Amino acid sequence: MKILLLGSGGRESAFAWKISQSPLCTELFIAPGNAGTDAYGTNVNIQVTDFHGIKTFVLENSISLVVVGPEEPLVKGIHDYFLSDEHLKDIPVIGPNQEGAQLEGSKNFSKAFMRRHYIPTAASASFTKHSLNDGLAYLETHKVPVVLKADGLAAGKGVLICQTVEEAQAELIEMLDGKFGEASSTVVIEEFLEGIELSVFVLTDGHSYKILPEAKDYKRVGEGDTGLNTGGMGSISPVPFADSVFMQKVENDIIKPTIGGLKIDKIHYKGFIFIGLMNVKGEPFVIEYNVRMGDPETESVIPRIESDFVDLLLGVANENLHEKELVISNKTAATVMLVSSGYPGQYMKDKVITGLENLRGSHVFHAGTTLHEGQVRTAGGRVLAVTALGDTMFDAVQQAVADAGRVYYDGRYFRADIGFDLL
Ligand code: AMP
Ligand code: GLY
Repeated sequence: MKILLLGSGGRESAFAWKISQSPLCTELFIAPGNAGTDAYGTNVNIQVTDFHGIKTFVLENSISLVVVGPEEPLVKGIHDYFLSDEHLKDIPVIGPNQEGAQLEGSKNFSKAFMRRHYIPTAASASFTKHSLNDGLAYLETHKVPVVLKADGLAAGKGVLICQTVEEAQAELIEMLDGKFGEASSTVVIEEFLEGIELSVFVLTDGHSYKILPEAKDYKRVGEGDTGLNTGGMGSISPVPFADSVFMQKVENDIIKPTIGGLKIDKIHYKGFIFIGLMNVKGEPFVIEYNVRMGDPETESVIPRIESDFVDLLLGVANENLHEKELVISNKTAATVMLVSSGYPGQYMKDKVITGLENLRGSHVFHAGTTLHEGQVRTAGGRVLAVTALGDTMFDAVQQAVADAGRVYYDGRYFRADIGFDLL
């Protein structure tokens, strides 16, 4: 079958790598892709939110499965667009419809969902411009730190952790005044949870589910988890503290009520659910839902999946996921993200990348790269993900870090301490 994958990051590179290994895939197209995805299929210059362009391409090329990487087309309703078009309606889209995508698209929606279905999460309340005074009063007696979240998508920047009531009140005013545009016209004020985070991934066809390997993401730019928040500087999978006792709590208290809640709410969800969790003294709490896989978690998760990934996706498309087998490697995967100097602020671009052929044992997934006059160049803040599998976390991290050091470009930066907090 011919498959179209939407997206251009490290996550999509890992998807493309895995999909291209499946005998079920005869041809893979990636829109728009990056300088690395070309090795697994054919890049197509169409943006992920250009639904009309995607439609034309899908029909002209007899595509029979569409896999959506990032959240934006899902939140904008690409699944509904397919279902409502008479020529596209029978072509499965992996990723939820617009209503399901609200789990990520609106924090207010996801908090209400969790309350309704008794899913453990931080206590919260939502406010708009009209209830600003109530919000300020609510903060007056709130314990600190306190978390303020823009309701809508804010490119990963819409969460603020405030250390004093005064700071939180000032931020609330600014957010409701448009600090994150339309995304912060509603603000969720949330209790701060103290603990250690992890990412749990579920694939569902709307009836049954498979729990994919969990991962831990390293979000801060600096070693020792210091400095600004980024999209993610590295990841490891599995996560040592996510033992069978903890994961059983996650499944019973969070995954089952999430899948059940979607059914009760009549949201027919087909795709990935990424559950951002806080482990608070051994108890899991949901920090957020995302309606896609994580990046750079995917670069550690996918290499641990031994089963045919396309077969699993077909299980979602055909709603027979329960018949599919998910085999997971017991090796540890470590991913080190190579970024551009300045990231996550203004960063350098268009630098020639060399040394990719020198890796010894790791796999490189391209993220922000482009091909220019035959040269691979940097084109984003997060440039490459270097992933190694090892028998132990130490082996995997050591291999990935050593190989990250074998790749060069001006302004190259990476964290060499991925996983160290868990060793
Ligand atoms: P999000 O954009 O929802 O992923 O939030 C960004 C980051 O803020 C999370 O990864 C957490 O590190 C942190 N965060 C969000 N909500 C909370 C909370 N209730 N308590 C503590 N930290 C939080
Ligand atoms: N790594 C976190 C995310 O993909 O949102």
